[in-house]
Parts: sequence; structure tokens; C-alpha cells
Amino acid sequence: MRYLSPALNVMMAAARKAGRGLIRDLGELENLQISKKGPADFVTSADQRTERILVDELTKARPGYCFLVEERGVIDGPDKSHRFIIDPIDGTTNFMHGIPHFAISIALERDGNLVSALVFNPVTDEMYFAERGQGAYLNDKRLRVAARKNLAETLIASGAPYMGKEGLEEFLGELRGVLNVTAGMRRFGAASLDLAWVAAGRFDAFWERNLKAWDIAAGILLVREAGGEVSDLKGRDRMMETGDILAANDSLHKPLLDLIRGAKP
Ligand code: IPD
Ligand code: CA
Ligand code: CA
Repeated sequence: MRYLSPALNVMMAAARKAGRGLIRDLGELENLQISKKGPADFVTSADQRTERILVDELTKARPGYCFLVEERGVIDGPDKSHRFIIDPIDGTTNFMHGIPHFAISIALERDGNLVSALVFNPVTDEMYFAERGQGAYLNDKRLRVAARKNLAETLIASGAPYMGKEGLEEFLGELRGVLNVTAGMRRFGAASLDLAWVAAGRFDAFWERNLKAWDIAAGILLVREAGGEVSDLKGRDRMMETGDILAANDSLHKPLLDLIRGAKP
């Protein structure tokens, strides 16, 4: 087993603890209290409790660090150079439907740079993790992005705007463009896992618009440490600010960026 930084060890322990609760919840889904936050955007008691466990565990181990978390937003601490970015359940809709494709996503920033990251699917017990300059891993296995160069052989993941979210026409245009020249696409419903699967070479690429920093922070480091390229949809390193992202290997990144940018709604 490779060396893990103390910070990543702490993040993994927190994710495993919170993950045990999610597995229990999945078995008792019908008893969960469900409230609506907005169109098709559910917040479950599981979301809130998972976030609380993660914030409590990480605060115990790293008192003073700041947080950006989905449910509670910004939690300020005296140590301004460190920030955890957390999605307690990425793939809430899957979770609500009993589909075992969701994850806890935790990234750690130091002075604005992503330094440690994990995406953990508690059902499959798949722990994807990365540290800046140290590579990306799935459990004990080193990850590399897929090597395919030919678009016609690629499998591409994305996320679709649903129920009135902005950008449907734009997305449909992009989808048509991508479907015309690739071997297929998937919409599995958890952006953090989409990125982890690009890092693992399962997907050749992933793009989506209008995401939040907590959906993608950990996945960005995973893909980069697996040798992939990540940008926003204008080719800039501004994914977390814009919420737009394209991740792929370095041969496919440019052709896909051109394809997506050139797509007509
Ligand atoms: C969602 C998932 C989904 C993406 C949505 C996100 P949530 O996060 O990552 O794949 O398409 O835009 O909001 O709500 O399940 O944490
Ligand atoms: Ca999310
Ligand atoms: Ca979430």
C-alpha cells in the first residue's frame, strides 16, 4: 500500500464512517424523511446527517480548517489556507431510487490548490483517491485515464439538465454532436463518479455544465493525477467558478472541446 498523507487518512476515515450510515439508510429508504429543496432536487435526512458526520470528523482531526459543503454552504474557520470541499451524497436521485451509484466526495485545498481528494462509493466499497503529485488510485490500484485516441471508439459521460434547469437546448445540441461521432454516451447521475470513472479509464471523457464546486473538486484532482486533462468549456482552468467541465485524455480533450463548443442548440 502506498504512503498516504495524514490528511488523506483522516478524509478516508470520515468517508468510511459516513458511508456506513448511508448503507444502513439504503436498506431503510422507505423510512427516510424526504423534503423538497427545489425541482427534482431532494434533500434527505441522510444528506444532512452524512454532511454532519463528515464535518464533525474532519473538524475533530483538523480544527480551524474552512469548509464549503453542499447543505450548509460556507463554514469559516481561522485557518484560511485550508478548505475542505464536500458533497455528502453525490447522486442523490440515484440514492433515493435505491440505485447503488452515488458517492461521498471530499477534496482538500491548500492555498487555493487541490492537494488531496477522494470519491467513495460505499455500496461497491470503491475508494478513489489522489494526492497532488502522487497519482490517483482505486483502492490499491494505480489509475490511468484511457489511452484511446480515436473518437469513434470512445464512450462519453455527461449530465443532462432536468425539470426546468437552464441549458436544455444547448445540451441537446452538444449531445447530438457527441453521439454522431462516438461509440456512445452514458448519463449515470453522479458527477463525482463520472470523473472518477474517467480517471479509471472506464469512460473516455465527461462533460457537463452548471455543476457546483462540490460536485467536481475531488474528481478534478483524480483525473489530473491519472494523467488526464480537465478544463471548463472554454478551455480554461475555471471549472469550479463556472461549473462547466470537460475531462478527457490529452489526445481527446481538444477535439471534444471543439465539438462541444461548436455544437448548435
Ligand atoms: C448531481 C449529480 C448529477 C449532476 C447534477 C448534480 P447531487 O448532484 O452530480 O450527476 O448531473 O447536476 O447536481 O444533487 O446528486 O448531489
Ligand atoms: Ca452533487
Ligand atoms: Ca449532493
